[in-house]
Amino acid sequence: MSVKNLGIIGYGHLGQFLVHELSKVPEFEVVKKWNRTPRPEDHVLPLEEINEKNLEDIDLVIEVADPSVIKKYSDLILRHCDLFVGSPTALADKDTFNSLKNLSKQFNRSVYVPAGAFWGGNDIQKMAELGLLKGLTVTMTKHPSSFKLESPLKELNEEAKTRTEATVLFEGTVRELCPLAPNNVNTMAGAAIAAHSLGFDEVKARLVSDPEMLEWHVVEVEVEGPDGFRVSTKRMNPARPGAVTGQLTYFSFLASIKESRFKPKGFHIC
Ligand SMILES: NC(=O)c1ccc[n+]([C@@H]2O[C@H](COP(=O)([O-])OP(=O)(O)OC[C@H]3O[C@@H](n4cnc5c(N)ncnc54)[C@H](O)[C@@H]3O)[C@@H](O)[C@H]2O)c1
Repeated sequence: MSVKNLGIIGYGHLGQFLVHELSKVPEFEVVKKWNRTPRPEDHVLPLEEINEKNLEDIDLVIEVADPSVIKKYSDLILRHCDLFVGSPTALADKDTFNSLKNLSKQFNRSVYVPAGAFWGGNDIQKMAELGLLKGLTVTMTKHPSSFKLESPLKELNEEAKTRTEATVLFEGTVRELCPLAPNNVNTMAGAAIAAHSLGFDEVKARLVSDPEMLEWHVVEVEVEGPDGFRVSTKRMNPARPGAVTGQLTYFSFLASIKESRFKPKGFHIC
């Protein structure tokens, strides 16, 4: 299999981790990096230089910056190459989601969404394909300092910091939650992509802020199928207070990029 040329947008925690880890994988070569703050000493270009010329020799762009980057640049990227959406909360915006779906078909490109901290995505996707998925609820519980939220959840989380017991910050649909917690609930956006028969409007989201959660990020998934079929999982990921992403999720992300090589063209969770 030939070497895939990669471009990475975002040179923060995840971007730097991926550049380092992917340099050890012979099947991939990172040929371009972009970031909001350019770093000439590390060959990191500014976002304004995501242009036709710089995308020419790239097979796959990996976005690990911010959902706004997907909204702004996915159109241009998909005209040239495949796209790995590291900030899938962007896809809760109907126009962005539809545009990605249409462009990937029009230009025969692949769009990959990482499973991240979402456990059992393949099984849930199969159930959705077979029309067997009746319900899906994802609950994420973190320490209050691990959230980066918009109003009114931001204020609710400030109150939660003063309590000792856990506070439910949000209960509703993934569609409603994504813009309120754009950097915290990528896992739920991944769930809505996998459970495509339910989608962003029917996958249920619960966000819990728990001052006792000093060492873990917890993701609970409850799946409902026909005739009382149920599956419940609880993923406990070691994470320091203040960490937005648990450690194992970084490696899950890397594994998703490696796996993308074996997927057929189309829209995939991997
Ligand atoms: N899918 C998943 O499971 C998963 C896991 C972790 C992180 N993420 C997402 O990946 C992205 C990067 O995460 P990270 O932990 O590396 O974050 P980070 O803050 O460490 O790095 C983000 C980088 O992107 C740049 N950036 C930030 N906001 C930007 C904006 N509005 N426009 C352009 N550039 C911007 C910053 O300059 C920074 O270099 C975030 O959107 C995060 O939500 C997804």
